[in-house]
Amino acid sequence: TEIAGRFKPTVHPNPTPLEAKIKILKDLKFGQMFSDYMARAVWTPETGWTQKVIQPYGPIQLSPAAAVLHYGQEVFEGLKAYRHADGSIWSFRPGFNAARFNASARRMAMPELPVEDFLSSIIDTVRADPTWVPETNGSSLYLRPFMFASEAFLGVHSAKEITYLMIASPVGPYFASGLKPVKIWVSTEYHRAAPGGTGAAKTAGNYAASLLPQQEAASRGYDQVCYLDVIENRFLEELGGMNVFAVRNDGSILTPAVTGTILEGGTRSSIITLLHDSGREVFETQIAVDDLVKWIQTGEVTEMFACGTAAVVTPIGELGGENFKARPKGGEVTQWIYDELTGIQNGTRPDKYGWLY
Ligand code: COI
Repeated sequence: TEIAGRFKPTVHPNPTPLEAKIKILKDLKFGQMFSDYMARAVWTPETGWTQKVIQPYGPIQLSPAAAVLHYGQEVFEGLKAYRHADGSIWSFRPGFNAARFNASARRMAMPELPVEDFLSSIIDTVRADPTWVPETNGSSLYLRPFMFASEAFLGVHSAKEITYLMIASPVGPYFASGLKPVKIWVSTEYHRAAPGGTGAAKTAGNYAASLLPQQEAASRGYDQVCYLDVIENRFLEELGGMNVFAVRNDGSILTPAVTGTILEGGTRSSIITLLHDSGREVFETQIAVDDLVKWIQTGEVTEMFACGTAAVVTPIGELGGENFKARPKGGEVTQWIYDELTGIQNGTRPDKYGWLY
């Protein structure tokens, strides 16, 4: 069904000059450059979602009392648009992101956005200037839909005005090191989420809380933090912004089960499907860090990797903690998943699941 065109188009008065754009698209890092357009909509209880427009990307007006700036009522998503060899542009499982956006919204006492509006905001923004979708392999247009409490008040209650924006950023690899294995610090000191908390919602506060642990891990020479469960401080949950997998020497795969404190990743779910359908056993289960370290040291676990929309599939070269250091060897399963997944996304392998849109 045609659902594009719900957001009123606009002509940019001052678009990025072609030469500057070509330069930007040639050397992409993650999340530093932005396309010329963004989508916007506003919600109030009386009107529902209105004022749907595509407008030039740029600063927005916001009251200093806007509730998001004080109490963090916000949810966001991350997905990518890929350019195929024939020039066509595809997003990957946007329905998954639309559904998760609304699940996050419910947890944060925010209005749901109709799936058709979510999809239309993406299509209409990309169509405003499709040349922002890079052609280089490994690059894509990262799409960031988000909404926040824009009502001005200092009382603590859910806002009666919500602003939705969808911005787009041409990106290369998330880690500056590219596909080099990353080092993960397992934190027993900080936690990401507790039962009943907001861990399963994609909301700003979860990421704000990860910044100090991330900084401390970086000062120890690590790239990312892996969090453990709150109750026993023993079972792997996820990294600051990605899910985690371990591969056993018998070819089976382990990943933490989603228990309500973990953000259920679209990449995670796609990888589980790909592994499963290739005949491998995938266990969504509790993984105790002490067992995992032992298994890496004895060779029972041979590979570990992190995954997410931003990170794609990134091998983990080291797992470190207060009193341990373990180095998974790495190997073919991580590479196989990377090739399968990016092959589907880039249109070089058949999309038998209908994930591309
Ligand atoms: C993603 O899009 O993969 C995220 O989780 C957001 C952030 C880590 C960039």
